[in-house]
Amino acid sequence: DWTMGAYKEEAIRKIREQVGDKRVICGLSGGVDSSVAAVLIHEAIGDQLTCVFVDHGLLRQNEAEEVVAMFRDHYNIPLIHADESELFLTALEGVSDPEVKRKTIGKLFIDVFQKYANEIEGAEFLAQGTLYPDVIESVSFSGGPSVTIKSHHNVGGLPEKMGLKLVEPLRELFKDEVRALGHELGLPASFIGRHPFPGPGLAIRCPGEITREKLEILRKADAVYIDQIRKHGLYDEIWQAFVAILPVRTVGVMGDGRTYDYACALRAVTSVDGMTADYYPFTHEFLSETATRIINEVQGINRVTYDVTSKPPGTIEWE
Ligand code: XMP
Repeated sequence: DWTMGAYKEEAIRKIREQVGDKRVICGLSGGVDSSVAAVLIHEAIGDQLTCVFVDHGLLRQNEAEEVVAMFRDHYNIPLIHADESELFLTALEGVSDPEVKRKTIGKLFIDVFQKYANEIEGAEFLAQGTLYPDVIESVSFSGGPSVTIKSHHNVGGLPEKMGLKLVEPLRELFKDEVRALGHELGLPASFIGRHPFPGPGLAIRCPGEITREKLEILRKADAVYIDQIRKHGLYDEIWQAFVAILPVRTVGVMGDGRTYDYACALRAVTSVDGMTADYYPFTHEFLSETATRIINEVQGINRVTYDVTSKPPGTIEWE
């Protein structure tokens, strides 16, 4: 008779047994997996856990504040908020090649994480929200994007380099089971049901050169789009939805004047595991209402397009 409640108790017992009275570091991304891992480990060992949240300046609107409010204020989990946005954005200046972007972010991420982790005295363990499919994938794929995903989000190679042992309490679970466990641990449903968000963040939704100005515009447009999706009750039907700001400005007309602003693309897909995906069939009404709202509410955008590419041949993200 297998229930999530029993799984939770067993997982807590195992964590206590593995960790003893030692300290554990957990990298928080704001995503569901690392969040569930952190809350579970906190239930098991309390203040022996310290979380590190690296803010690379490529997060969505209010995202850093929400993560801090949830973990530090609500759960009382010791949390280091590493605001390193200047470091990342400066390093990314002038970079437009997608692979160079990813590598730049991935490398800095590891450096920064390591710097903060080194300040936590007596840490012997590193916690990761690795899931069962991650375990399988890292065996069956020897190239392609999954490697990038792993090396970024699960800080690959870092435990050995830092002399830390791994704690991976979600290793036997699939995504839906992680959500059930999160529910069992009392995480809010709105948090458990969040769309996936890539480690490199908004960098890969801003094709071409990343500027602070473009990121600001992108954040605002994305917030309006997600608000529209929630208002229409579509959020849970969609695997992932976001705006990409395009590296092109086009002419428009507004009021009496001519505008010359950025174009953006809306993306929304359904998927089971992110490996293949179909674009979401919004109604024309939804699309026009959303386009109107974005153009009216977001200064810097005067044209909205909808991406109707499935995966394959497209990827979900734009880079
Ligand atoms: P693509 O764009 O490859 O994305 O179709 C498939 C899924 O993976 C996410 N993704 C990433 N997640 N680090 C991550 O943690 C990454 O570097 C990364 N790249 C893509 C993407 O958001 C989608 O859910």
